[in-house]
Amino acid sequence: MASADRFKAKKGLEGVVFDTTEVSHVVAEKKSLYYRGYPVHELAEQCEFEEVAFLLLYGELPNAGELEDFSKRERASRGLDSKLLEVLQRFPAKGHPMDALRTAVSYLGMEPDFAGADNSQSATEKGLMLMAKIPVLIAASQRLRHDQPVIAPRDDLSFAANFFHMCLGRVPEAEVVKAFDGSLTLYAEHGFNASTFTARVIASTLSDLCGAVSGAIAALKGSLHGGANEAVMAMLVEIGSPERAESWLEEALATKKKIMGFGHRIYRHGDSRVPRMSQYRDMLAERYNGQSLVEISRVLEEGMVARKKIYPNLDFPAGPAYHLMGFETDLFTPIFVMARVVGWTAHVAEQLSDNRLVRPLAEYVGSEPRAVVPIAERG
Ligand code: COA
Repeated sequence: MASADRFKAKKGLEGVVFDTTEVSHVVAEKKSLYYRGYPVHELAEQCEFEEVAFLLLYGELPNAGELEDFSKRERASRGLDSKLLEVLQRFPAKGHPMDALRTAVSYLGMEPDFAGADNSQSATEKGLMLMAKIPVLIAASQRLRHDQPVIAPRDDLSFAANFFHMCLGRVPEAEVVKAFDGSLTLYAEHGFNASTFTARVIASTLSDLCGAVSGAIAALKGSLHGGANEAVMAMLVEIGSPERAESWLEEALATKKKIMGFGHRIYRHGDSRVPRMSQYRDMLAERYNGQSLVEISRVLEEGMVARKKIYPNLDFPAGPAYHLMGFETDLFTPIFVMARVVGWTAHVAEQLSDNRLVRPLAEYVGSEPRAVVPIAERG
């Protein structure tokens, strides 16, 4: 590399290849996403989330015996220490659930099962325990902030069904649980996005998994990243009715507003995960009388493609789908964490298997060297 280029900044690291990975492959021009070689839409359709988690963590889809063992270990790890529950009770009631989750994961990092630096294998084993505990943390802190009793996890329910049980005290029909389970598969992994990159940078310093995941949660919270699924719902509520959607979009674009749930750094012609997630949303809309949300979404999608050639991303159908399932809007991004913690863990393990400290350079654009003037002589 010529030395002048070496010190040229690439804003947002756009187009920079940071490392190799075997975890997933985004083929933007074909609008495709593969987890360890498998198309994500096939995984969402044919596999339970637990199988996909095993695939991401251990590299292959499990056979029946491996899945049974994995599920047993996941279900056995769902409990929370009573001291941690006491800590959750003290969180500010108005705090955002993503902040509560970030703090709780940070707390877990001090518990004996999680404390200490990791190698690839220990990170994977801790990742399985985090996958089991994160939904319990989300549901418990949400119920506590509404002064509702915490509902204990059930070890006879799948990962997806148990989350409904812990949050809402009921498990819906199989078709709805399947839609939620499939959405977790779609959210589980996506290459070197901002939160995964954050996790890998933290892991590269030989910090621990809970530290890497806490940092990743903080990165995911932002509305340009995972927080977009909540922002989409707020936007749909603000628009209110399909009749208002067209004029709302026109005004928003005229005032250079970013339309939440549209655009993507990698996918410039559409997001591979959107068709399946939209099917889930449409099924839920039919079941729960949500046609107006689908109509508003259709107007926005057609308008954005026609006017700007900008396509929806996964968060666009996921926001209304989670709303129709009965989850509060500020739980949408924590739900994203429930799934993505598996992808983060796979990346941390991969980083640790062949680690090199991440330490990029800066293009300096500040003042020339100058002498310090004593304070009495400064104007
Ligand atoms: N609404 C309106 N205009 C958008 C847009 C959106 N959602 N996303 C991109 N654009 C426009 C930008 O304003 C820019 O226009 P310009 O060239 O006239 O300035 C152009 O498209 C390129 O966008 P840019 O912001 O440079 O793309 P990026 O790769 O830096 O950003 C996102 C990608 C995801 C951050 C961006 O599309 C966005 O903010 N989307 C909304 C938030 C969201 O849904 N995030 C979830 C991502 S999975």
